[in-house]
Amino acid sequence: MKVGFYQFSPAFGEKEKNINKVVTAIKDTDAHLLVLPEFFATGYQFISEDEVDDLSEQVPKGPTTEALIELSHEKNIYIVAGLPERAGDKFYNSAVFTGPEGFIGFYRKTHLFSEETLYFTPGDTGFRVWDTKIGRIGIKICFDWFFPESMRSLALLGAEVVAHPSNLVLPFCPDSMPVRCLENRVFAVTANRIGTEHRRPDQSLTFIGKSEVVSPRGEILVRASDDEESLMSVSIDPTTARDKVLNQYNDLLKARRPDLYGPLY
Ligand code: ACM
Repeated sequence: MKVGFYQFSPAFGEKEKNINKVVTAIKDTDAHLLVLPEFFATGYQFISEDEVDDLSEQVPKGPTTEALIELSHEKNIYIVAGLPERAGDKFYNSAVFTGPEGFIGFYRKTHLFSEETLYFTPGDTGFRVWDTKIGRIGIKICFDWFFPESMRSLALLGAEVVAHPSNLVLPFCPDSMPVRCLENRVFAVTANRIGTEHRRPDQSLTFIGKSEVVSPRGEILVRASDDEESLMSVSIDPTTARDKVLNQYNDLLKARRPDLYGPLY
């Protein structure tokens, strides 16, 4: 099967324009699983509670999730994409998972980054993996990567492919994902954005691009540039991620020693 991403520069607050851009851009993709960036339809840098209130949507009832469900259905494709979620009086940095069969599930970002902590509630879903026709798909969102527990949790839950919607600003993730994938023997699809947002006079954010697909052997199978819009995909066999055997003596997950990992809990 083919997995891929669409890396682009969403315009802040212009949901309809961003969604239409995605619909047009992915028209000819051959990916079976396509990952879009974190906050792909709204832009990233919220600077007031009113903006968050204005742009967040219910899941799965909101228009962005509904558009993704329709797109998945029309194109017979699985999509993972990030959006700000409204749930009662709370707001989460979430990702939704849709497929030809409709809405599959959602995940709420566990580790909020920087000023996200001002406007969003830390996720309460925990990490999740869905068993689908294209394999066992898990989700983490952007800064979650910085916490090795995220990928480990997903691997222990049986993830074969980890979809990773992102809006990376720090430079470390693209070169770190090969280690995360190697130590857990999973595939990862990081869909980052490009461009700069300058929504506060005293601060601008430049997103680093370099979206990529990484294999369980730590190989970068495809990587986009740091500043170009890119739609990329690559063939993988997700079942190879089930093999955690390093040699005849070491199975990566079975060789763990949780009884000695006390400080982690
Ligand atoms: C991030 O979590 N958006 C860096």
